[in-house]
Amino acid sequence: MENLCKNYVIAIDGEAGTGKSTLAKNIAKKYNIVYMDTGAMYRCVTLDMINNNVALDEIEKITELLDNIKLEVSSENGEDKFYLNGEDVTKKIREKQVNDLVSQVSHIQIVRDRMVDLQRKLAQGKKIVMEGRDIGTNVFPDAQVKIYLTATAQERAKRRYNQNQEKGIDIPYEEIYKNVVFRDNNDKSSSVAPLKKADDAYELDTTNYSLEEVEEIVMNKVKEKIQIDV
Ligand code: DC
Repeated sequence: MENLCKNYVIAIDGEAGTGKSTLAKNIAKKYNIVYMDTGAMYRCVTLDMINNNVALDEIEKITELLDNIKLEVSSENGEDKFYLNGEDVTKKIREKQVNDLVSQVSHIQIVRDRMVDLQRKLAQGKKIVMEGRDIGTNVFPDAQVKIYLTATAQERAKRRYNQNQEKGIDIPYEEIYKNVVFRDNNDKSSSVAPLKKADDAYELDTTNYSLEEVEEIVMNKVKEKIQIDV
């Protein structure tokens, strides 16, 4: 197989709540490679804007924030912790104020450009599984493996609701459902990196599959494309 022992990128893209995070984390664990949650990066920028009262159209102020932003991730007891300018924001970036704004922030051109640059830089020289919306189409169009996950909006809202409950975040199901639909529309209709499947991505509708089943199907795809040295 062509990709033995070389660095590689596994791109996991798709709508919110399709199980991308769990899948990407499990792949990373199984193959002992780096996991990158690019959505969390956009969430950190959104929180930085909220903390500094910067509006969506204040491009100069946004650029200044981006010039000074410090994003760090550390893995503690198997859990990723996100630090924004030194503060642990792991929980805050999943809260309503960020949920409501992040899709719009992620479609500001300067934000997208800076984050994509950072993602490419962080991935350099690594074996990595990267989760997001535009990894296979834009960040790494030459990724060795591209997976695109979908599921119905109802199923995705249910999954996110359950995830939040486990993390002690109490947001009603109806609110999550509305947010999922709103973000889908926003993500797909944006002129800046709209959410869409890469032509050469493997698409999987996860609605009727368990996480284990999705993992098995995707792992088989990965093995077809890369010989992983575990
Ligand atoms: O995966 P998530 O729900 O944490 O992502 C948060 C938002 O960021 C979501 O509305 C889409 C956006 N996003 C993006 O535009 N590009 C990425 N690579 C990752 C996320």
